[in-house]
This record gives sequence, C-alpha cells and structure tokens, in this order.
Amino acid sequence: MAKKKIKVGFIGCGGIAQFHFGHYDKLKEKAQIVAACDLRPERTQATADRFGCRQYQDYNEMFAKEKLDACYVCVQPGAHDGMEFAAIEKGINLFVQKPMSLDLKYAKKVLAGIKKQKLIGAVGLQCRYSASLPLVKNWINHKKIAMISAHRLGGFPMVWWWRIKKESGGQAIEQTIHDFDICRYLFGDVVLVQSACRRGIITNIENNDVEDCSSTILTFADGKIGTFNTGCFGPGENGINAYAQNGCKINYSIGGNYTITEPNMTITGKAGNDYGMECDETFVDVVRGALPQEELINPYSDAIKSLALVFAIDKSMHNGGMPVKPEL
Ligand SMILES: NC(=O)c1ccc[n+]([C@@H]2O[C@H](COP(=O)([O-])OP(=O)(O)OC[C@H]3O[C@@H](n4cnc5c(N)ncnc54)[C@H](O)[C@@H]3O)[C@@H](O)[C@H]2O)c1
Repeated sequence: MAKKKIKVGFIGCGGIAQFHFGHYDKLKEKAQIVAACDLRPERTQATADRFGCRQYQDYNEMFAKEKLDACYVCVQPGAHDGMEFAAIEKGINLFVQKPMSLDLKYAKKVLAGIKKQKLIGAVGLQCRYSASLPLVKNWINHKKIAMISAHRLGGFPMVWWWRIKKESGGQAIEQTIHDFDICRYLFGDVVLVQSACRRGIITNIENNDVEDCSSTILTFADGKIGTFNTGCFGPGENGINAYAQNGCKINYSIGGNYTITEPNMTITGKAGNDYGMECDETFVDVVRGALPQEELINPYSDAIKSLALVFAIDKSMHNGGMPVKPEL
C-alpha cells in the first residue's frame, strides 16, 4: 500500500532550517513543507518562495489554520516558549533542534506530552546517523574499554544569540552536546561529571559571556572514565579516543572517520553517507508509517538524557568543579 505524503511545518527559518530545507528539496515524493513560521517576515517569505508554502509570524495561528503531520522547531535555545505544547495539543509529531530547551523541566514536560499523545519526537542529533557508528559501537562493545580521551574544538558562531549564555546555554551545552551525545551512544550513560571552564581567550567579540573552553571528567555507569576538552576558539578538530588493554584502541571523529588498532592489525574507515539527510528522511519515513519507530535513533526520549548530561557539566563548571550527577 502506498504510504502517505506528509505535511510539514517549520517554526524558525534561520540557519539550521536551511540545512533541513536542502534535504526536503530531495524528499518531495514523501513530504511537503506546507507552512513556515518565523518572527522575521523576510525569512518566511524566502521559505514560501522556495516551497510554495503559507507563511506565519505566529505559531498559534499556524497550528490553528494548518493540518500538519509534523513540525520542526528550529528556534534558538532560549526561545522555546511553549511552541512544542501547542503542537502536541494538536497531535503533531515533532522534530526539535538541540539543545531542546535551556530548562530541563520544560524538556521533561515536552517528553511527557509526546508520550501521552503517542507522538513521534525526534531531536537534531544527526551525527548518530553516521554509517560507521554501528561498526564502531560493535567493536567497543566487544572490548573492555578502560578510559576515554575526547576533544572538540570549533569556531564561534556569529548568530546574535550565541554569545549570550542565557540564550544559547553556552559552549558545552549548545555545541558539544553533539559530541557528549555520541559518547553516551558509544559508551553508555554517564553517572558523574566534574568540570572546569575558562574565559579570556576570545577577546574580540563584544558582549560575549559564554565559556571559551572547558575540561570535563566523565564517569560512566559501568566504570569507564574519560576526559573531554572542548572550546570555541577554533579552528575545528574533534576526536574520541578509547583505550583497552594490549594496545587496543579506537579513534572516532564526528562525521564517521575511524581507526581501530589491535596488536596485529589496524583498520581505518570512513562513513560515506549523508547522515544529515538520513536523519531527516528517517523522521519522515517514521511519521508516514513507512518505517517502524525503532528506526528513529535520535528520539526525544533518549536525547533528553544528553541534555541532562550537558546541564550537569555546566553546573559543575560554574560551581568550582563540584561533582554533579546527570539526572532527569
Ligand atoms: N543540529 C545541528 O547541527 C545544528 C546546527 C546549527 C544550529 N542548531 C540548533 O538549531 C537552533 C537554531 O539555530 P540557528 O542557527 O538556525 O539560529 P537562527 O538564529 O539562524 O534561526 C533561529 C530562527 O528562529 C526564529 N524564532 C525565534 N523565536 C521564534 C518564535 N517564537 N516564533 C517563530 N520563529 C522564531 C528567529 O527569528 C530565527 O529566524 C538552535 O537550537 C541551534 O543550537 C543545530
């Protein structure tokens, strides 16, 4: 039986929405963007010109007038003001960008609503769709990993809200949630964090109050320990290194490149897939009933644990490195 073509709306038509739009250009057989909402009319106009959709400045009006199967929430972290609840009330499936809120209670309420209404909830943690990740995870599952050493260094995003901690959440929460999430995905849940941060490296950006960098010690549920260094003074590089006995180790980069080293062999590989595209296509296929829900590997129900983790890290780095348990 032919599966239906779904109707999709967007709240927020800025930078990350363009990333999704590029995928929706290729998903026209399966999904149609029928409505775009943004506070900035020039952004909804550009979206309407591209997709022939209706445009709104108020998401309540959009939900009142449209019959949507799914809605993307692509607003800045500090702007989640109840839009998910308005969608949930209408029975609309959600794809929410990371970090899904700067308030864990808010995210928990969203999750409760998704569960209660039996909706599909996804989060923009597209790095989980890298084709090499299952292979890397399988290798890790068959080794007794002792310790992990990871880092992510990137640039400073120039959107207005990024430099304002109460709008973005700060460097670890807004940027490195991707990498902490991949650590959780590969090594399991984290039960304790201790973190330190510093500022004073980046001096040429006005009104900036986010951390330049931080260092975190992670203790995983099964006893593994790890360190994670991250910063936004660029240039970009990242890597997760995990070490077992007898010289066995793995290096994984977000994006899918990996090197596995064992006493008698070295394997290198890379993921050749467009994991951002796969992330959106999987969401579309699950919403339209062409794939079972288990195929969605970035559900809100699990992403919220990565949100709790970065909030715990942030709490520790701003409280003298005190040990904090990531808890929902
Ligand atoms: N998954 C990823 O790799 C990735 C990459 C970049 C950004 N992001 C995330 O995506 C989110 C948005 O980031 P961005 O770079 O697109 O920001 P942006 O500033 O370019 O776009 C955000 C848009 O939301 C709109 N907006 C804010 N409040 C609104 C409201 N109440 N109603 C309608 N529109 C509203 C703004 O006008 C703006 O156009 C952030 O949470 C960010 O962390 C994710």
